[in-house]
Amino acid sequence: MIVAPSLLAADFARLEESVKTVERAGADWLHCDVMDGVFVPNISFGFPVIKAVAGITELPLDVHLMIVNPDRYVGAVRDCGAMMMNVHQEACTHLHRTVQSIHDAGMKAGVTLNPATPVCMLEDIIADVDMVLLMSVNPGFGGQTFIEHTLAKIRNLRELIVRSGSKALIEVDGGINSATAPAVAQAGADVFVAGSAVFRSENPAEIIQSFKSL
Ligand code: DX5
Ligand code: ZN
Repeated sequence: MIVAPSLLAADFARLEESVKTVERAGADWLHCDVMDGVFVPNISFGFPVIKAVAGITELPLDVHLMIVNPDRYVGAVRDCGAMMMNVHQEACTHLHRTVQSIHDAGMKAGVTLNPATPVCMLEDIIADVDMVLLMSVNPGFGGQTFIEHTLAKIRNLRELIVRSGSKALIEVDGGINSATAPAVAQAGADVFVAGSAVFRSENPAEIIQSFKSL
């Protein structure tokens, strides 16, 4: 399993220390949640913060844009040094064009689905994406409860990926902790996003290692 701690749960007054802690604890990627107060009912942080974080970590940045019109910000995300740019399917009218422009900018392209959006919406884009991010909570806040139906979606998505010969990874985001992670891995996920479970833990290394070994 690839483990991507979510910066949203970090101590913002001690950002560098928090990032270094998860880096030393064995995190694979750093997940950066950008919220605009329009697509989701919350506002988090933006590009200057991500750029500053990029300057103090070696971890690849997995940027999750919970914003309207994410296609406007492909250049800004690239300039932050992001490895992966995730856009919501629900926020993109011309998803194929957006995925293309993310690739043209030299980043990997991820497409994200809200809990109520079915996996079949990705039938005609799955071959072109590097990752699908399944939301296992409604986006906007950390620390919410995992939605069990996500397990069925992971299995459907795995079927679609195999059937279409896609190389897409499956990332799951929201409510991942020691209790929910085993079933998520079992259902076929490749990448765990975990905010509270990692940053609020007394021992981030132990929790990250336990996720990686699933
Ligand atoms: C939710 C964000 C998540 C969030 C996960 O809108 O996309 O990445 O930080 O937080 P936890 O792991 O606490 O559910
Ligand atoms: Zn996220």
